[in-house]
Amino acid sequence: MLELRHIHKHWDGAGETVALLGASGSGKSTLLKIAAGLESAEQGQVLFDGQDISAWPPERRGFALMFQDFALFPHLSVQDNVAFGLIEQGMGRTQAREQARAMLDRFGLAGHAQARVWTLSGGEQQRVALARALITRPRALLLDEPFSALDAELRQQLRDEFRQRIAAAGMCALLVTHDETEARAMAVHAWRLSGGVLQPLW
Ligand SMILES: Nc1ncnc2c1ncn2[C@@H]1O[C@H](COP(=O)(O)OP(=O)(O)O)[C@@H](O)[C@H]1O
Ligand SMILES: [Mg+2]
Repeated sequence: MLELRHIHKHWDGAGETVALLGASGSGKSTLLKIAAGLESAEQGQVLFDGQDISAWPPERRGFALMFQDFALFPHLSVQDNVAFGLIEQGMGRTQAREQARAMLDRFGLAGHAQARVWTLSGGEQQRVALARALITRPRALLLDEPFSALDAELRQQLRDEFRQRIAAAGMCALLVTHDETEARAMAVHAWRLSGGVLQPLW
């Protein structure tokens, strides 16, 4: 039985990434899903800016999520994948597409705007996923092993790029990873989840 007692998650400032480390099966993804509102906890609270959001549905929390499997929409173009969240927020299609184009330009992906996402490489797809997450200006970014499906060289490249882009966007992020090197490269603070206990690492 997995128990998560007295959960408190504290992020410091904008642009800061906090890492959650732990062995496979230690409960990292479960904790992230509880933070996102995708799973509920029997005990404890999730707070954001001091406000108890435990009972809030995921969409009201205003967090963006990224997983290792890209979870892009295969039937949409790259541009429409990135525009999707803006349209969902009520923005007109034309304006949303314009903003998506500008975002893709910054990400060096403008040339792929009209392509189907499945024609892109794994690294490009994760860039699209990050662009899609950042464009809606979420209150926080929750990343669950975002580079696990990629090879070592690309992982290393993307973690530096992601760190810079997340900081540039002034976003606070929670990075779930089993890879301490990755956590060191990306996070200002890290915690280890082990045996149901969260311990500060740095
Ligand atoms: N829906 C579920 N039902 C039963 N057990 C689950 C469920 N989800 C996760 N678990 C178990 O809870 C533990 C923690 O899982 P998880 O949060 O995915 O760990 P991690 O992300 O650190 O690998 C694992 O032992 C897993 O098998
Ligand atoms: Mg996991």
